[in-house]
Amino acid sequence: MGLQAPRGTRDILPAERVYWQQLEEAARQILDRAAYREICTPIFEQTSLFERGIGEATDIVGKEMYTFQDRGDRSLTLRPEGTAGVVRAYIEHGLYSQGGVQRLWYLGPMFRYERPQSGRYRQFHQLGVEVLGSADPRADAEVIALALDILKALGLEDVTLMLNSVGDRGDRAHYRQALVDYLTPYAADLDPDSQDRLHRNPLRILDSKDPRTQAIVNEAPRLLDYLSASSQQHFEQVQSLLEELGIPYQINPTLVRGLDYYTHTAFEFQQGRLGTEGTVCGGGRYDHLVEELGGPATPAIGWAMGLERLILLMGDRPAVPSSVPHLYVVTRGSSAERQGLVLAQQLRHQGYIVEVDLSGSSFKNQLKRANRSGATHCLVIGEEEAAAQTVQVKWLASGEQEQVSQADLLSAAGRSRLFGEQ
Ligand code: HAM
Repeated sequence: MGLQAPRGTRDILPAERVYWQQLEEAARQILDRAAYREICTPIFEQTSLFERGIGEATDIVGKEMYTFQDRGDRSLTLRPEGTAGVVRAYIEHGLYSQGGVQRLWYLGPMFRYERPQSGRYRQFHQLGVEVLGSADPRADAEVIALALDILKALGLEDVTLMLNSVGDRGDRAHYRQALVDYLTPYAADLDPDSQDRLHRNPLRILDSKDPRTQAIVNEAPRLLDYLSASSQQHFEQVQSLLEELGIPYQINPTLVRGLDYYTHTAFEFQQGRLGTEGTVCGGGRYDHLVEELGGPATPAIGWAMGLERLILLMGDRPAVPSSVPHLYVVTRGSSAERQGLVLAQQLRHQGYIVEVDLSGSSFKNQLKRANRSGATHCLVIGEEEAAAQTVQVKWLASGEQEQVSQADLLSAAGRSRLFGEQ
């Protein structure tokens, strides 16, 4: 069998990359306007960062990490998510000492050893934001509003915002005990994964997709009933700010996210058309992570979007054609070939998209390719044109053509007459 991309990975071919570029551009513009700044962290980190940050009992750390020893015998892991690395960088570079709130965003590949299916990959891409240094519920509302702006800019209006509060550590400890007490008599009826989680990570049982477990969970005590007064107040403020912003949401008391660092607000944007992999964005507050990773106590909140999922949903939208004239150079004879190469380079320096036919085939075949290339104009240099330092400019849409000197073509007046303003 021939070589193939590893299971769970995929090539993004040029026709699809166009959508990625649109997505990245839209996101960058929205985040720029809200004064978020881009940060890049390494694709691999020390394994202990994720063990400590995401939590040893989570599926991600327990069974999904790409962990390896490097040649210096260090244990490294391909990042399964972006938050831990951003927090590590925030601490390592003392970004907290700049004072105020840090608003950061990132985009890049993440790696999880999951069972691949449509919308779920082993290498996938996330766009994420992290706001460090604010416990204010307005930060929660701001990041949620920005996520929605990005989804809307991509034409994905029909998403549902699911909202929950997972409380603070104290609230969760009380709730965890109540949940274990409630579930223990049903232990034998739970699905095997949930049985396994009963003492390791019982809150994740709330997320089980197994119908029998779900029926048991439906009657379980609710995390929302275990919130302290201050947790409750934060949650209510977030809701009222969302209402103020005109952002509809549904409270989902069983929404517990797959990472251990969350406190208070937890949320997801879901899109029904993707079935079980319908979560296009997930995030929440993580007020203790910076401290747990060795930094000063710093409340924080963020989210990440799965870009492959957004692309799947954007897939039926036509790409916007480029507004820049696109020129295709067709030549015959060695002198013309040389002139075509030089001319192309000069026109690129003036901002045009220029493609040189390198096939060495007949004029007829080169012209056919010019027509298929998406170019607006064809520049034809044959032996005669080369001798006279001229070029035939052909408008591909109408088939009209005109002979001009190469000097004219390169002059500002000539270029703008032939190709329009540039
Ligand atoms: P997460 O929920 O694990 O959160 O992932 C966020 C998003 O990444 C998911 O909603 C989904 O769209 C996408 N995603 C996750 N796994 C896959 C996969 N195997 N294939 C394709 N897409 C996937 C986090 O990663 C947190 N770091 C988010 C966050 C930032 N919380 C606070 N700040």
